[in-house]
Amino acid sequence: MKHLLSIEDLDRGEIEDFLDLAGEFSGVLDREVPKVPALRGKTVALMFYEDSTRTRLSFDRAAKALSADVMTFTPGGSSVAKGESLKDTTLTIRAMSPSLFVVRHRSPGAPWRVAEWSGLPVVNGGDGAHQHPTQALLDVLTVRDHFGKVDGLKVAIVGDIRNSRVARSTTQALQKLGAEVTYIGPRTLLPFDMGDWGVETSSNLDEVLGEVDIVYMLRIQRERGGGDDFPSVMEYINRFSLTEERAKRLLPHAMVMHPGPMNRGIEIDASVADSERSLVTKQVANGIPIRMAVLFRLLTGETK
Ligand code: CP
Repeated sequence: MKHLLSIEDLDRGEIEDFLDLAGEFSGVLDREVPKVPALRGKTVALMFYEDSTRTRLSFDRAAKALSADVMTFTPGGSSVAKGESLKDTTLTIRAMSPSLFVVRHRSPGAPWRVAEWSGLPVVNGGDGAHQHPTQALLDVLTVRDHFGKVDGLKVAIVGDIRNSRVARSTTQALQKLGAEVTYIGPRTLLPFDMGDWGVETSSNLDEVLGEVDIVYMLRIQRERGGGDDFPSVMEYINRFSLTEERAKRLLPHAMVMHPGPMNRGIEIDASVADSERSLVTKQVANGIPIRMAVLFRLLTGETK
């Protein structure tokens, strides 16, 4: 495998290999000196055209835990302000001899172009509303860690699904590992065409709440126009927010997930986000070993 661009490119065995390897790297992170020399001499170029806290920092931490060097590019303060294109920025960074690019960009497909122009391995760190494969891997790792399996679990993904690369990629990863997914949200925030996606849909969170093992909440992605597709925030909260009251109606074993960043008080109550049902900080923590696994596989070419 040269790149990790889309969950669509992975089969079940490849996903499970990343999860198993991440489990081994979690052991490294628990050591007194949480570092191994596996990628010494390699350089990871983080090319983040869109804002990020979790993805950027965890790739940085993952690369350094494997003893790789890191170069970070963000457009603020760069020559993008002077009109430099994505292609020229790629070729400029390429000329400084990185080993791999991690690319986040608002335009779907941008990581594929960087792969073509650079000739180097590329990891998609999130492209528009399209794909976010390492988020999907850390999500299924978190599910498997908690439930001991993914097969047969029922997952409700709630909110602005149309504008969410997380919904799309995490759904694909969950389905490849045997989970059932239901999308819940206003009709205007569900994808236009879900022909063969294999998901159920509903606009009634209260009907589905008591039947699922996991409720996966999404924020309204205003940067992609998600806030324009329903009449008022209050109405949205009334129908789709995971409030403390609604959380009481979850199955006793059911858990809550969210990719972050959360908008507390809108899609999720603060008390639910911080409750024992919440896997949110576990998702963030799992971002490091899963990204170690991805960098290791792509940069060493070693497979199971
Ligand atoms: N979940 C996620 O991608 O978060 P960031 O945008 O902070 O990286």
